Amino acid sequence: VEGEGSFVPEQPKSAQRLKIGLYFATWWALNVVFNIYNKKVLNAFPYPWLTSTLSLAAGSLMMLISWGIRIVEPPKTDLDFWKALAPVAIAHTIGHVAATVSMSKVAVSFTHIIKSGEPAFSVLVSRFLLGDTFPTSVYLSLIPIIGGCSLAALTELNFNMIGFMGAMISNIAFVFRNIFSKKGMTGKSVSGMNYYACLSMLSLLILTPFALAVEGPAMWAAGWKEAISTIGPNFIWWVAAQSVFYHLYNQVSYMSLDQISPLTFSIGNTMKRVSVIVSSIIIFSTPVQPINCLGAAIAILGTFIYSQAKA
Ligand code: 3PG
Repeated sequence: VEGEGSFVPEQPKSAQRLKIGLYFATWWALNVVFNIYNKKVLNAFPYPWLTSTLSLAAGSLMMLISWGIRIVEPPKTDLDFWKALAPVAIAHTIGHVAATVSMSKVAVSFTHIIKSGEPAFSVLVSRFLLGDTFPTSVYLSLIPIIGGCSLAALTELNFNMIGFMGAMISNIAFVFRNIFSKKGMTGKSVSGMNYYACLSMLSLLILTPFALAVEGPAMWAAGWKEAISTIGPNFIWWVAAQSVFYHLYNQVSYMSLDQISPLTFSIGNTMKRVSVIVSSIIIFSTPVQPINCLGAAIAILGTFIYSQAKA
């Protein structure tokens, strides 16, 4: 509903909690499905620039159709809206493609362990670039986050530098995305669902020329042929699933952002990573060492301490 983003309707507390609980459960479930199909596709077809583009294209198409047939009321936007959205879209594009490149090189669980360190980047960027200061407890919470991520990275059996750097770049890009979108969404009259739709469309425009330059149709055609010959026609459904689920989980996360504080959102995001890490280790039978799990657990515990310290 247009304008929904600017206020939270009065509802009994229990109903509001139930609604947020449902948003969270849906967000995590959609995210787990996305991560599984995304990795299945990347294992057979290692072209992360194309798969990232397809995810944005599927979302853009779904939203254009939804606006066209009026299941969703199109947003009323002006040039200022798109100008404010541009830096958010640049950061979203970089963060998205970097995470996908990472997942094409390392286990899904490893990418998400490194991505659980995002709060540390948020504090460092806010402190050193924006000059914000935090209580000492916030800085102290960075020790387990950074220590845990480092331990997990050092003991990762299939460590790969591109995979590691991709997840780190994604962390930095998403910190900027959150800072810019906070600015762009202040006083906004566009709902979370429509805001994310516009973000997908702008990111798609930004990413397409880069995907063509980095990979391009010749590589895609050869890779596609090979994937179809090894997996069979089901491969097309995997690609469709990863693209559609990418849009759906992000859309639900932006819809829940309308209802909750950024802090609750980041706790939800960390818990989402726990479900992705555990389910992907089981589904892909990822080899893990106890010390590696300890690193991940310390990092995740650190993000909870961070949220408490910030609250
Ligand atoms: C992506 O492809 O954009 C990443 O998988 C996003 O990761 P996140 O939404 O879990 O931060």
